[in-house]
Amino acid sequence: MFALRRIAVQAVSRARPLVAPRALAVGVGARRPLAASFASSAGETIRLTMTDGDGDKFEIAMVPGQRLHEAALDAGVDLECACDGEAMCSTCHCIFTEDVFDLLPEASEEEEDMLDLALGLTETSRLACQVKYQKELDKCHITLPNEVQDFY
Ligand code: FES
Repeated sequence: MFALRRIAVQAVSRARPLVAPRALAVGVGARRPLAASFASSAGETIRLTMTDGDGDKFEIAMVPGQRLHEAALDAGVDLECACDGEAMCSTCHCIFTEDVFDLLPEASEEEEDMLDLALGLTETSRLACQVKYQKELDKCHITLPNEVQDFY
């Protein structure tokens, strides 16, 4: 019985790692506890909102050094982020309002290539993993498409 329980626990833990092994090795995409983030950068936290494909609205706190997909995951948004923030899928596709989109740095060629494959692409689409903290994102609203396609 004990052996069976141990096997069951191992099976569950292998089924879905909380953080990809590569992320642990290089720190890419590793999630930081939100409380720790607030403590180290009080006063620089920006807040934005995100509506997912089901119409659920999330309030997101973002701190310097953080990328949008990390902040969204910390807030409980169901972003798949299949490539763990490497711009190799389009599961973090998000849509900005035009005024905020114009304030973002231009997308890299790799990001543009992945966006071209995204479902529901718009003129103001970006990959959340490629959007870094910047104060201009404060109070902005972002929407997620109804469906995403994973090319990873
Ligand atoms: S998480 Fe894969 S492209 Fe952003």
